[in-house]
Amino acid sequence: MLSGPNLQLLGTREPKIYGKETLADIHGRLQDRARELGVSVEAFQSNHEGALLDRIGAAGGTFDGLLLNGGALTHTSLALFDAIKAVGLPCVEVHLSNPEAREAYRHESKVAPACIAKVSGFGGDSYLLALEGLVRWLGRRPAR
Ligand code: DQA
Repeated sequence: MLSGPNLQLLGTREPKIYGKETLADIHGRLQDRARELGVSVEAFQSNHEGALLDRIGAAGGTFDGLLLNGGALTHTSLALFDAIKAVGLPCVEVHLSNPEAREAYRHESKVAPACIAKVSGFGGDSYLLALEGLVRWLGRRPAR
C-alpha cells in the first residue's frame, strides 16, 4: 500500500474532504483487515515521487499486487504509470475522496490506465475495500 504526497497529514488535512482519521489509523485498520483475509500488507507513505517509484520497481517477486494512493501525483505522474506497467503487478488506484466529483484538474488520472481497478470516495475505507478487491481479483486469476 503506497501513499503519496501530503497523505501523512491525514487527520488534520482538510477534514471535511479527507475525514479525521490519521494515516496510521487507516494503516492499522488495513493490517487488521489483512489478517482477517489471511494476507500480509506493507504500508509506505512518501512525499517523494522517486521513493514511490523505487518501491514499485522493487515490488516484483516480493509482492503479489499494489495498492496506490498517489495523491496529487495521480494527476501528473507518467513515471508512476510507467513503473506500474514495468513491474507488471496488478495495481488498484485508491483515493479517500472521489476526485471525479471535485475540481476538473483532479478528473484525469495518469495511473488509471495501468491499474486493474479504482476505489475512491469511501474515506479510509477505500484502502480496506481496495485490499479486499485485490485479494478477490488475485483469487480469481488463473494460475501462472
Ligand atoms: C487524493 C485525491 C487527490 O486528488 C489529492 O491530490 C490527494 C488525495 C485522495 O485520496 O482523495 O492528495 O488522492
